[in-house]
Amino acid sequence: MAHTHLFSRGAVAGRFLERNRPGGAWSLLILLSATAAAVDSPLRVVFGRDAFAHFFLFDLLITLLFTADIAFHFWIARKSHIPYGRLLLLADIVAALPLQLAFGWTPFALVRIFKLARVAQAMSTWRQHHIHLWNTLRLVYFVYWLALSVHWLSAGWLALRGIPPGADEWGAYLRSLYWCISTLTTIGYGDITPHTNAQVIYAMVVMIFGVGMYGYVIANISTIITNLQPARTRYLANMEKLGAFMRSRDIPQAMQRKIRDYYGYVWEQRLGYDEASIVQGLPPGLLVEVSLFLKRDIIAKVPFFTGANDDLVKEIALAMQPVVYTPGDVVVRAGDPGTDMYFISRGSMEVIAPDGQSVVATLRDGEFFGEMALLRNQPRSADVRAASYCDVYRLDKRSFDSVMAKFPDFAAHVRSIGSKRMDRSR
Ligand code: CMP
Repeated sequence: MAHTHLFSRGAVAGRFLERNRPGGAWSLLILLSATAAAVDSPLRVVFGRDAFAHFFLFDLLITLLFTADIAFHFWIARKSHIPYGRLLLLADIVAALPLQLAFGWTPFALVRIFKLARVAQAMSTWRQHHIHLWNTLRLVYFVYWLALSVHWLSAGWLALRGIPPGADEWGAYLRSLYWCISTLTTIGYGDITPHTNAQVIYAMVVMIFGVGMYGYVIANISTIITNLQPARTRYLANMEKLGAFMRSRDIPQAMQRKIRDYYGYVWEQRLGYDEASIVQGLPPGLLVEVSLFLKRDIIAKVPFFTGANDDLVKEIALAMQPVVYTPGDVVVRAGDPGTDMYFISRGSMEVIAPDGQSVVATLRDGEFFGEMALLRNQPRSADVRAASYCDVYRLDKRSFDSVMAKFPDFAAHVRSIGSKRMDRSR
């Protein structure tokens, strides 16, 4: 198995990273402490002390955590053979330096902000691992960075204004936050105004940032919210297109209803996705795994498959294609040549007598039909009609012949059912 050997190292690293990807308790702890440090450090500069009133303890804890995190990432890099990114290493080291503790100058606390590089990296990894949550995460990340930016801008404003001695520090911060939000949202009441040149320049920068942010919000939030339900949006767009098409071609109302019902059913059962085309694009190993998973319902329902050889189940799962039939659809017609056999996953099918009226048999979940024509190389012996919406899996003649030749047990089982049916039809 050459490919197993080729991929094994990558696969081990992949599994290792899977276990240690952001989301693990350690990474979460680091992300939380990086955020706490990013909130705390500008306040240290403004208040001359930390936000949590445990100046020394908090700084020591952060230094220890960030240093341990560097060791942790070196360890991961060695195990997974994926090198420690140079820029990330630099950011990690700078953020871990206890500069303020060593030199006592509060602006040194700002180096902790470099640890946010890890937050940005974790966010991008999360997004890759949870691609289905792309839009939700985009929204959450936006709110996270916006909240941090507003906090920093408020702290900056407070630093420029200064806090009069003996004044309420948190009250001053609250007013600064209020000024920042009203400026950013372009409301600007004008009750707090810049006095010095530096304040005027700062206010202009915040205003420009606010306009940019406003533009971003308007342009993105509505798309994000619409995209939160991409399948539904796509379905509604397709239904509209379908409606326009049917009207333009004057399709009769009853037929239009049937078409809409069909798409409604496919939407409910499969969210409008074409299972076959999605599966076909996968690499071979994953293709087998996903096919087995997607077809687990039919594999569990066909009694013969439950105890059957794994290779047989794999081959059939790969070859079977999902098809949906609506009530009244004739799936096979008496006299036609046989090209496929069918396994019913959900729904019921009626075998119609040669008179075209009476029902000879009703086949349900887990049963199959269409095998007789393939076995005997003869035309179809009867009509088979969908009595309800049916999820069916189709096995083409070539795969049928290959499975019958390779797996004698299965061949015997299909033949015995086929001949019983033939006896009954005589
Ligand atoms: P085939 O002849 O290929 O096409 C019609 C199918 O109806 C046939 O295969 C069987 O799978 C099925 N069929 C025919 N007669 C019966 C019966 N008496 N009971 C159940 N199924 C039947």
